[in-house]
Amino acid sequence: MSATDYLERIPNNVSLKDNRRLLRALEEWQPKFLEWWKDMGPHGYQAKDVYLRTAVSVDTQGWAQFGYLRMPEYRWGIFLAEPEPNRAIAFGDHKGQPAWQEVPGEYRGTLRRLIVTQGDTEPASVEQQRHLGQTCPSLYDLRNLFQVNVEEGRHLWAMVYLLDAYFGRDGREESEALLQRRSGDRDKPRILGAFNERTPDWLSFFMFSFFTDRDGKYQLASLAESGFDPLARTCRFMLTEEAHHMFVGETGVGRIVQRTCELMRAHRTDDVRAHGGIDLPTIQKYINFHFSVSLDLFGSEISTNAANFYTLGLKGRFEETKKDDDHRLKDATYPVADLDGERVAMCEQPALVALNERLRDDYVVDCARGVARWNQVIARAGVDLELTLPHRAFHRAIGCFGDVRVSPEGRVISQAEWDARRDDWLPTKADETYVGSLMRPVTERGKLANWIAPPARGINGQPMDFEYVRLG
Ligand SMILES: [Fe+2]
Ligand SMILES: [Fe+2]
Repeated sequence: MSATDYLERIPNNVSLKDNRRLLRALEEWQPKFLEWWKDMGPHGYQAKDVYLRTAVSVDTQGWAQFGYLRMPEYRWGIFLAEPEPNRAIAFGDHKGQPAWQEVPGEYRGTLRRLIVTQGDTEPASVEQQRHLGQTCPSLYDLRNLFQVNVEEGRHLWAMVYLLDAYFGRDGREESEALLQRRSGDRDKPRILGAFNERTPDWLSFFMFSFFTDRDGKYQLASLAESGFDPLARTCRFMLTEEAHHMFVGETGVGRIVQRTCELMRAHRTDDVRAHGGIDLPTIQKYINFHFSVSLDLFGSEISTNAANFYTLGLKGRFEETKKDDDHRLKDATYPVADLDGERVAMCEQPALVALNERLRDDYVVDCARGVARWNQVIARAGVDLELTLPHRAFHRAIGCFGDVRVSPEGRVISQAEWDARRDDWLPTKADETYVGSLMRPVTERGKLANWIAPPARGINGQPMDFEYVRLG
């Protein structure tokens, strides 16, 4: 294993200085990345000091270092988790063979596509969130937003490293293209739908970090099982950063829910809008929206691509090595939700083509745990209401439910019923306008917007009134 070169122009633990060709490719890409960051990264805060953590090593104990930094000076680098000695491929046709340290020629195109698709989401989310700084509910939240942003930038570096190191000229062209596409751009959009949606307000941001970053967690976790060892190690380290993003989302929504309940009790009313809060039905609608568009990211229920990725040893299941089966799945089946006339019904499908659905199932369970924690906040406040995840068939654009209308309870309904009920289920223009009207910046130390409760604790043991971003 190689030591961490933290002082190099590109911090890394992959011995970059011994690989001149790769070092040159990345050093050529670096200024283009910085240009992209200045154009498309957080708007208006590039020159401010932000209390950020930076990866300086990959051990679980000591990887992070906290300090003030201007974002363009963030030490974006290349960090892979420690290699596992004698790691073997854990699944598919190559099960038991030594993990690949180079890309198998015949899988080159497929693997490149997987890496590009993952890589494209990283800069996309930075672009989606670039205006949020102007309306932050506190310095604490502002700092968390920027932490997420710089780490998504680092995730882009992680994928670009793989492309440049292992895919030659094609890889370098893809690295360029990752800086060319733009979230929401009609002519050169980001690859996946949810990454072209707007993130116009902080409720959307917290929902995105909870639901959409969590899709990232599941994609990364299954790529962390890859037979292509550099990809596996890259993704394993990315997961440690991803955990913080989901923490930001879960606690962000949880704090809004808490504040809403406080307002409901203090004023003995469900109508917290009159008191500057975000009412629970509106929060539910945002859950419905962000959950459903994130479900689409897992792809079709039945997918031969997913089967191929698995059989070829490129992308495993969530916690593949902890599962107790043959890890080939040629004869196995898996229950998949499907349309049975007017009903949603479960049917057994060959397990290999059902792998997208299986990963989506793991994801849904994880989301439900977070929603249960929000419900604890509501219950503790003595409020009689529960937030729920809508049915997986609700508001889907991809897969077997993409062409039908389904209620949040999972009932197939007519277009007319959908039209009549849509505004009860998904954020309306009026909801968005209301939430938008709350988005006024609060940048005094220790102060918070009225619609969100304070966090349980500060970052890295700092108090809530710490100057997380120096605006002076
Ligand atoms: Fe990421
Ligand atoms: Fe993330």
